[in-house]
Amino acid sequence: MFETIDQINLSYVKPGIYEETRFEKLHNVIFQNSEEGSKEIAREISNLVRTKQQKEENCVLGLATGSSPLKIYEELIRMHREEDLSFSNVVFFNLDEYFPIDPDDSQSYHHFMAENLFKYIDVKEENIHIPDGNISYEELHDYCNNYENRIQKLGGIDFQLLGIGRSGHIGFNEPGSHLNSQTRIITLDHITRSDAISAFTSLEKVPRKAITMGINTILQAKRIVLMAWGRNKAKIVKKAIEGEISSNIPATYLQHHQNTTVVLDKAASSELTRIREPWIIGDCNWDNKLKKEAVIWLCEHLNKPVLKLTDKDYNMSGLLNFKGPAYDLNIEIFNLLQNTITGWPGGKPNSPDSHRPERSKPDSKNVVIFSLAPETTVAHIGGTMHRLVEQGHKVNLLFGLTEDSISTEEYLKYAGVFKKIMPTDISEGVIEKNCPTMEGQMPSGTVKKIKEFIRIEEILTAVKNLGILEKNIKFINIPEKNNELSEKETVEFINVYLDKINPHQIFTAGDFKIPHGIEKRYLDHLINSTKNLYKTKSPSQCWIWLYNESNQDWKISDVDMAVPLSPDQVLKKRNVIFKFLSQKERILFQGPDTRKFYLDSENRNRSMAEKYHKLGLTEYEAMEVFKKL
Ligand code: F6R
Repeated sequence: MFETIDQINLSYVKPGIYEETRFEKLHNVIFQNSEEGSKEIAREISNLVRTKQQKEENCVLGLATGSSPLKIYEELIRMHREEDLSFSNVVFFNLDEYFPIDPDDSQSYHHFMAENLFKYIDVKEENIHIPDGNISYEELHDYCNNYENRIQKLGGIDFQLLGIGRSGHIGFNEPGSHLNSQTRIITLDHITRSDAISAFTSLEKVPRKAITMGINTILQAKRIVLMAWGRNKAKIVKKAIEGEISSNIPATYLQHHQNTTVVLDKAASSELTRIREPWIIGDCNWDNKLKKEAVIWLCEHLNKPVLKLTDKDYNMSGLLNFKGPAYDLNIEIFNLLQNTITGWPGGKPNSPDSHRPERSKPDSKNVVIFSLAPETTVAHIGGTMHRLVEQGHKVNLLFGLTEDSISTEEYLKYAGVFKKIMPTDISEGVIEKNCPTMEGQMPSGTVKKIKEFIRIEEILTAVKNLGILEKNIKFINIPEKNNELSEKETVEFINVYLDKINPHQIFTAGDFKIPHGIEKRYLDHLINSTKNLYKTKSPSQCWIWLYNESNQDWKISDVDMAVPLSPDQVLKKRNVIFKFLSQKERILFQGPDTRKFYLDSENRNRSMAEKYHKLGLTEYEAMEVFKKL
């Protein structure tokens, strides 16, 4: 069981006052981040495997796929390599598999498990069970019964690992699944299919069905751990933990189980009542941030601006602990909010800056904007980038290029033009003479290079429209997954780059759709580089401003700088985003959001301005917001 929970720090509720069962109906623990949570789960699994080994018993593990368990599998592999953890007594049963799908298909869960765990540990082939997505319809019924029987014959699942889908599914038990359901075929929910787009590249290619263990199969497990990481999961986690048991959210069925723990990181727990609205639960340890959150919450609930809140409002809503009349508190919070708004994201020269988000000095700052997805960055902070340039700061862009961000169709468009304009003798080696439509027939590496050129040119065209000089734009190749060596080289490059630029400000993404993916790794590298850099120079010279790349923007109470955009600036930004033509249909970094990113960013910036306005602050067309690291 989990021992290293940091709950007291995470919650404002005074210990001992919290009524455990009033809201939460599933035992849960919250870790600072997904790494810590994953390590703890891996530790529980390894303890169980070893204990069973000592007793010379089999250990039956039920496993999940997806992004959530990746760190757990990494840790188990590490334990196997470094701590002699053997899996020779373990029998594995996976929760589910797409249907139909070939086990050799790189999107299949067979492939996933081999690549992320089985290949690296001493598992016996006959101990691996993953539903077969290749089975015929005729055989399906018996096949599923047999899957159940095999689990039962081994005495049932000792430990079942679960993720949770945004539809509320566990395994692929989608909304509507029955409590008594067993292993069977199921039609996937639309949300589930759209969350899988990034793996399959388009919605049409995502299988419509899957084979999944049933709710009953899962609930028979002796121990269940459900993990959820990142803000993307926060809403469904709240429903699973606080909601009534219902087939609409199949994860709520876990409330029937006697030995389930939900393991969360801070972001995934952020919608729980005890975290989001602790004042509803009990007496709080108030600080400025919590006061700000509570007042904004009250405004939103009563649909009132800050300065119109009365003593009666505060009393009625249970926010009794504030000292002094509402008037003083209203002014205090209003000013805090007001002070986050600035049209000078690089600081306002020759002005007092104690109430501004950025320092006024130096007048002209060295700014670095770091991104692995330039179009997303422009969509999120294009207005701020433009302002920084206009206000005389030296804006440098460091953009990471990941492989294959140009579709074949897009590449062929350019290849066709290229072929037409190049003299045959030059183009021959580059574009296959008679068949420019077949990528496979190109000399190796050429397609990759041409795609990179297309990508770079497009990015340059776009950002030059924001006034950024080409000489200040650098590209780095972001190595493929698991290539630690090249990643080290890239990080060294970042170190040298930052040392040379000596930035006063860095703008980058700080909250992601996948909380422990490649973007988070690079954010950590960047932070470390900055820290190391200023160990030798003057510390705290460089401020890091984070925008939010997950599905939701920062909460207003978390915003440290809000940069307003005029209607013309919104339009300008839209036109710049349109330059990223090759990316308009693509969804980067496994995001589940199928909305076009330019619409998304505009709506997001508008809704942020609206929220500020509703709180009684000046009405702007749109706002880009940042949190200071
Ligand atoms: C996968 C599975 C699913 C996932 C869930 C979360 O085998 O059973 O229930 O656990 O969809 O997926 P990720 O972890 O990718 O967010």
